[in-house]
Amino acid sequence: MKPPLYLDYNATTPIAPEVAATMRPWLEEQFGNPSSSHAHGQQAREAVKEARESVAALIGAQAEEIVFTGSATEANNLALLGVARAMPPHKRHLIVSAVEHPAVMQPALHLGDQGWDLTVLPVDEFGCIALDDLRVALRPDTALVSVMHANNEVGTIQPVAEIVALARANGTLMHTDAAQSAGKVPLDVAALGADLLTLAGHKFYAPKGIGALYVRRGTAIKPILFGADQEHGLRPGTENVAQIVGLGAAARLARQRLPLATRQLADLRDDLHRRLAEAVPGLILNGHPGRRLPNTLHVSFPGVSGRDLLVAAGEVAASVGSACHSDADAVSGVLAAMGCDVARARGAVRLSVGIPTTAEDVETAAAVLVRAWRATAA
Ligand SMILES: Cc1ncc(COP(=O)(O)O)c(C=O)c1O
Repeated sequence: MKPPLYLDYNATTPIAPEVAATMRPWLEEQFGNPSSSHAHGQQAREAVKEARESVAALIGAQAEEIVFTGSATEANNLALLGVARAMPPHKRHLIVSAVEHPAVMQPALHLGDQGWDLTVLPVDEFGCIALDDLRVALRPDTALVSVMHANNEVGTIQPVAEIVALARANGTLMHTDAAQSAGKVPLDVAALGADLLTLAGHKFYAPKGIGALYVRRGTAIKPILFGADQEHGLRPGTENVAQIVGLGAAARLARQRLPLATRQLADLRDDLHRRLAEAVPGLILNGHPGRRLPNTLHVSFPGVSGRDLLVAAGEVAASVGSACHSDADAVSGVLAAMGCDVARARGAVRLSVGIPTTAEDVETAAAVLVRAWRATAA
């Protein structure tokens, strides 16, 4: 049986063949510990160094500002809890947005349990925070602002550079979760200005279980795991060399493909949107129409539940909400924060294209989804 046509690249991406090829020797032959002083260790150390340089180059950072982690979740935890550990007792206020991934929201709530003050900024109908709300929320004791670069569900891109400007003027650090952005849009830490930035390997054709945290030089942060002094003392544990090498290869690939990939993804996404909008009267676009990830189409189909629609459209693999919390038939927290009514939230489907998606895939997927909507709405 043919597998369903994959339009769920925001959930995860396949490992690119070039990435797998770069990793293979590190799975099958090379096995040194980068901390060992003999030739095996030196080779591993060199491979990790090269990967660190590649990841740094993707976001315009210095190599020593990259900390490899076991996931984006871990990178986000390190950013929030690690900064919290490094802050003096009179700086215990944290600001996040209402549409953060649980990998930011949960450590933020944990800090709340530990006695921190937490401000959750609301978002508008497009999923965007208001800079005026941030201006009002910032206080002398605000240690950190964490606002995601791009939302995993609706794809809305937040005004990170403007957020940083306000935070910095207040003497506050800024973290941005860019797990969904790498490889889809150019990222430049100098232009963004963020002090900390999270990356996720499996969202840009590296394996699952590898991520990175960019930590601007001089940022106050302490480790949240205790052990040896790998990763500049911020993430103890023997380096996962094969995965790190994979992340480096994916970063090189992403860098080669950008900015062309942005255009290619946007063309496919817009073609899919056009085909659906033509055939489905009352289809509503969720997320910001312009400031949005180029690969993400989050739409509400009228008169149906997105879940039923996707069951009927079995030849297409997409999701309602995000893959991480799409099991319950509950309204997505992101759509609720955007003020979507229940019918609109119920009919929502996230379609996300990727580098392997073709124009024919889009044509087929649109036809399948329209047929399924007609059958389900009838
Ligand atoms: C915005 C965002 N942050 C963090 C994560 C967590 O990534 P991981 O599950 O790989 O740790 C995801 C994954 O969906 C995400 O979309």
